[in-house]
Amino acid sequence: MIPSPCYILNERDFRNNLALIRSVQEEADIQIILAFKAFALWSVFPIVKEYISHSTASSLWEAKLAVEEMGSKAHTYAPAYSEKEFEEIASLSSHITFNSLSQFERFYPKTKKKNISCGLRINPEYSEVSTDLYNPCANGSRLGVVAEQLPQQLPEGIEGLHFHTLCESNSFDLEKTLTVVEQKFGHLFHQIKWLNMGGGHLITHKEYDTKHLISVIKQFKAKYPHLHIILEPGSAFAWQTGNLLSTVLDIVENGGIKTAMLDVSFACHMPDCLEMPYKPTIKGAYEPTAGKPTYRMGGNSCLSGDFYGDWSFDKELQVGDTIIFEDMIHYTLVKTTIFNGVTHPSLALLTEKGELKLLREFGYQDYKSRMG
Ligand SMILES: Cc1ncc(COP(=O)(O)O)c(C=O)c1O
Repeated sequence: MIPSPCYILNERDFRNNLALIRSVQEEADIQIILAFKAFALWSVFPIVKEYISHSTASSLWEAKLAVEEMGSKAHTYAPAYSEKEFEEIASLSSHITFNSLSQFERFYPKTKKKNISCGLRINPEYSEVSTDLYNPCANGSRLGVVAEQLPQQLPEGIEGLHFHTLCESNSFDLEKTLTVVEQKFGHLFHQIKWLNMGGGHLITHKEYDTKHLISVIKQFKAKYPHLHIILEPGSAFAWQTGNLLSTVLDIVENGGIKTAMLDVSFACHMPDCLEMPYKPTIKGAYEPTAGKPTYRMGGNSCLSGDFYGDWSFDKELQVGDTIIFEDMIHYTLVKTTIFNGVTHPSLALLTEKGELKLLREFGYQDYKSRMG
């Protein structure tokens, strides 16, 4: 019996993504690491570790998770490190990327004799991402050092450069970005050992041209054979690997609009739908169609805007019906909140054998313990 609400990760789809990512890593002869910010369901890290060994952390807690659950030190990049946390971050990281020269100068001395490779995030001021919320190169961005702020000679201790400018992007976007990065920062490449090309490579999307990605990287590597290339996608790992299952609790009608009230919330359990915004896919539902029963989906928080719509169904919805939102694993899981004290969906794995393994249920104590 599947509890409702519940996020369900499909092991077969997940393994398919992991296998593809590993094959790109091998063919391109690069390192691909998992960005925890997009996927941190650590109870399935034993599966992840069968394919890839390292991860990227964007905070102390993610770095801890890397060591505890991936069993390897993190490639850490955070927009700003604090004195309070840096020592511990350093003990958990093999690579630390700094967002600014001032942060590098402040903390580099604390990385010495610790076998940590330090890097600097650069901002090429070029991104193919049109939504400002996800565009690290938007005007006035706080992320990364722009070319004109860098000296001709990198400060002693910087061994790598890191850029992250893509979001759900393809290999052609990377190719264009690389051209700009090379124009603006290429003169520094002989001074470094590694180049991290960030995340946003949606390698597992059905239209992603992995052959082209491999050829772009191979051409780049041919020019700079001394550079170790790292990609740190997140979404690609968990893309299309699972759903959020929910139940209709009530149906209300106002001004001719019918809303199916659910036991999940867009604000709490599918926040990107409201932030981006984007309309998720519901299994068996389709775009509003004349003559078909049509509904908004209503979230169970009190936020007025906690709804999305509309969808049509073949049959009238009834209280107790199951509504399945597709592709609700990457980012969605890590971004959930307990706003309004709404019950947090359980976490489950649909194994390759077709068995449902409940990974975690949440209770009142999870809510209470965050509030005091
Ligand atoms: C620095 C950095 N690396 C990697 C990622 C992962 O990106 P994605 O999940 O789009 O592949 C992000 C996402 O915001 C990021 O900011």
